[in-house]
Amino acid sequence: MTTIGIIGAGNIGSAFARILARNGIAATIANSRGPETLTSLTDELAPHIKAGTIEAAAQADIVLIAVPWSKLPSALAGLPNWNGRIVIDANNPIEAPLFKPADLNGRLSTEIVAGLVPGARVVKAFNHLLAALLTKDPHAEGGSRVLFYSGDDESAKAEVAALIEKLGFAGVDLGPISIGGRLAQFPGGPLPANNFVKFA
Ligand SMILES: NC(=O)c1ccc[n+]([C@@H]2O[C@H](COP(=O)([O-])OP(=O)(O)OC[C@H]3O[C@@H](n4cnc5c(N)ncnc54)[C@H](OP(=O)(O)O)[C@@H]3O)[C@@H](O)[C@H]2O)c1
Repeated sequence: MTTIGIIGAGNIGSAFARILARNGIAATIANSRGPETLTSLTDELAPHIKAGTIEAAAQADIVLIAVPWSKLPSALAGLPNWNGRIVIDANNPIEAPLFKPADLNGRLSTEIVAGLVPGARVVKAFNHLLAALLTKDPHAEGGSRVLFYSGDDESAKAEVAALIEKLGFAGVDLGPISIGGRLAQFPGGPLPANNFVKFA
């Protein structure tokens, strides 16, 4: 069985946990302060979602990372090689309270995240909607809410696409990171914050 980890238990990490739980899918979620600080979330989402350390969450087959941009290096430092496990990059290079875009030196944000998770197969997804909308029922307006994904490893993308569909969303493949990463990047890309719905 594919295991799922979540690093970051704020707006997006807990939204993803709620979506998994309502579909009966188990996951281990981690934050910076330790599993004991996540009891209200895990009580709400029992028995599917358990709290663990970052190291434990990072050992899963698929790991969604949702941590403020400036905290990513410290959150991911010291973890063992990812050995081909899948990382879903749900991060955007901008953060509260100033919402000043980070200086990426001409790189895509997902390329920078990939550099922090050596050996991982990175798929960018779950980053283009606000958490409040992401958490809502994806069967929306007579169709299915669209989630975009992009990545350079086709089999990793296929696994994330299957998860997206299982959760009730309509997945749209944007191609490799060099294309999809740009389209879905916030700020700068044309797709983020748009609520697309796919009709059968
Ligand atoms: N908010 C949205 O609607 C939204 C939408 C799309 C994408 N995003 C992106 O998703 C990411 C997370 O955003 P958010 O709004 O969910 O943030 P958030 O609510 O501030 O939550 C951040 C989470 O990251 C954890 N964290 C911080 N530093 C850490 C560290 N060094 N090690 C481990 N965990 C650490 C925090 O744990 P502690 O609380 O224990 O410190 C917290 O659980 C950002 O990159 C953001 O751009 C957000």
